[in-house]
Amino acid sequence: MPKKKILITCALPYVNNIPHLGNIIQVLSADVFARYQRHTENEVIYICGTDEHGTTTETIALKEGLSPQEVCDKYYTKHKEIYEWFNVSFDHFGRTSTQFQHNITQDIFLKAYDNGYIFEKDLDQTYCPKCKKFLADRFVEGTCPHCGGNNARGDQCEDCSKVLDAKELINPTCTLCRATAEIRTSRHLFLDLPQLSDKLKEWIESKNNWSQNAKNFSLGWIKEGLEPRCITRDLKWGVKVPLKGWEHKVFYVWFDACIGYISITADYCSKKGEDWEMWWKNQEVLLYQFMGKDNVPFHAIMFPSTLIAANDNYVLVHQISSTEYLNYEGGAFSKSRNRGIFGTDVIDSKIPVDIWRYYIYINRPEKSDVDFTWEDFQKRNNEELVGNLGNFVYRAQSFVNKYYEGIVPEVEDGPEDIEFYRQVSDIVDEMQTELEKTHLKTGLKLAMKISRMGNQFFQENEPWKNEKRRAQTVKTSLNLCATLAIVLEPYLPETTETIWKSLNLNASNHHLLWSEAKQIHLKGGEKMRKPKILFKKLEEDFIKKLKEKYVGSKEEIKEDNVSNMIKYEDFSKCEFKVALVESVEKVEGSKKLLKLIVDIGNEKRQIVAGMAEHYSPDELIGKKIIIVANLEPAKLFGIESQGMLLAAETDKDVTILTVDKDIEAGAKIR
Ligand code: 2FM
Ligand code: ZN
Repeated sequence: MPKKKILITCALPYVNNIPHLGNIIQVLSADVFARYQRHTENEVIYICGTDEHGTTTETIALKEGLSPQEVCDKYYTKHKEIYEWFNVSFDHFGRTSTQFQHNITQDIFLKAYDNGYIFEKDLDQTYCPKCKKFLADRFVEGTCPHCGGNNARGDQCEDCSKVLDAKELINPTCTLCRATAEIRTSRHLFLDLPQLSDKLKEWIESKNNWSQNAKNFSLGWIKEGLEPRCITRDLKWGVKVPLKGWEHKVFYVWFDACIGYISITADYCSKKGEDWEMWWKNQEVLLYQFMGKDNVPFHAIMFPSTLIAANDNYVLVHQISSTEYLNYEGGAFSKSRNRGIFGTDVIDSKIPVDIWRYYIYINRPEKSDVDFTWEDFQKRNNEELVGNLGNFVYRAQSFVNKYYEGIVPEVEDGPEDIEFYRQVSDIVDEMQTELEKTHLKTGLKLAMKISRMGNQFFQENEPWKNEKRRAQTVKTSLNLCATLAIVLEPYLPETTETIWKSLNLNASNHHLLWSEAKQIHLKGGEKMRKPKILFKKLEEDFIKKLKEKYVGSKEEIKEDNVSNMIKYEDFSKCEFKVALVESVEKVEGSKKLLKLIVDIGNEKRQIVAGMAEHYSPDELIGKKIIIVANLEPAKLFGIESQGMLLAAETDKDVTILTVDKDIEAGAKIR
């Protein structure tokens, strides 16, 4: 096959969270594909990075008392650590807040603008006069104009489920500061999708390698009629619009996010002294993109339209590989409810990485949503990894040690062996066909079938008593271990390296070509290493504990939309105490935060509070204030706060609650 240039990406994860297993699937999917491609003659790069712009980053920055850049730096490192732990083989894991991103986004925009695909229009939007910002839909709540319920957000009513326009809400309130929101007009830029739709249609119709599903969906959207898409926002954090009079706007995060693929490639190439346009303005390149189903419209319509509008010879997607959702024990993942497995939990679990990788691939939600359950996790490990793969490799390797002092027997293949190699070779070919189509789950099933065939071959040849076939059985089985070490390498890189090493094969050859995987013949007379146990059983008790740990709180906590009413029994859980402020200092690097040491009678507490703009440290020392004493400790700006002080707040001022008699520190408030 001629050598091709293969560019692989997976949806750039939002920087402002810790990814859960369902998110990690995308990064891992592209990883298998990239690792597989590296077993071919093709030139391959796998590009990913964090998606850093947008409202959420600004909001989290506000909450955590950090700048948006600091929020991104903090979470970028966390993402990177998690993917490194998973042995994800990115060629580059970059980010979208680089200068490359700003330059390339502006360049693409200006080309689309000059080509007449951008127009201006006024938009009415909800605005918070106190926060002085336009509000994204999820930051406005109020009364639903349809059912009158009080649980309506800017995009949807929780009570009647109707989809809303934020401007329709009665008594709209800013969820960030609780002030009344109002409607203001702002001028925006739009990508003229209707004008691009013929070109887009022609391109999609020419895509023979898209799945029928992806093709029908995309053509369906075009047929329904595409609407112009607003590509600007009234925010500070993002890529600035490079036009006169537009200095206060930035691009909508989804406009620049996809351009991240290009700018991260540019960043990567610049480090190697190469030209990024070889990857992005070169029609020889085949672009494979992995993502969850909710991202498909952006990659099948929005991003290609943007690039078509720029008319600058950009590469458009060759194949989109999308998945449905992964759920957790019958429900959704939720960080705030501690429900589900997040990247950091996976690391803490001390369960070896390849067990996680295996579980994710064998359950990849390729056709419908899939549920993660601990029971299934345990079963697949114990039956498939321990019982099938681990068992086969160990048997083959322990037999060569037991009967041949670890030396590969010098023996000719019999007809049984030749027939067996032929069957294996067919499956390796079938696996390749599936992988080329990004059917990763089917690929893994086929690899496990090869291992099962190995077990069956071993069993049928009975090398423990059939002396005539013993040497051949052992040798053929060892060869099969080597084949498995190649075809499973994309899925289980650590395990296959262990197998490879124990076969005493040269580490640098572990990336043999796929075509060679089916005909690996170990040399007779070669010395093998001692076999290692590849997988251990996961015991009932251990799994039970993990299940309990990550089951989450039973109460449904509505994340952005907490009702005002609480029960008395909930209120009575709060422990308020009088606290004497002993010392106060500014938190270095933060404009807002103060660190207080307070005395609550029998103990001292450290409290971090956003009071620096309202009180100087001296004004607070000696005051008797009120704190919530049984609040879970939380970190603010990396400093632990062991409680929260109470203060009254209006638009203009903030004042701390104190007591008006000289009562002892530690007194309870009722
Ligand atoms: O859904 C998400 O997680 C987005 N951050 C994906 C962006 S994909 C691409 F545009 F970068
Ligand atoms: Zn506000």
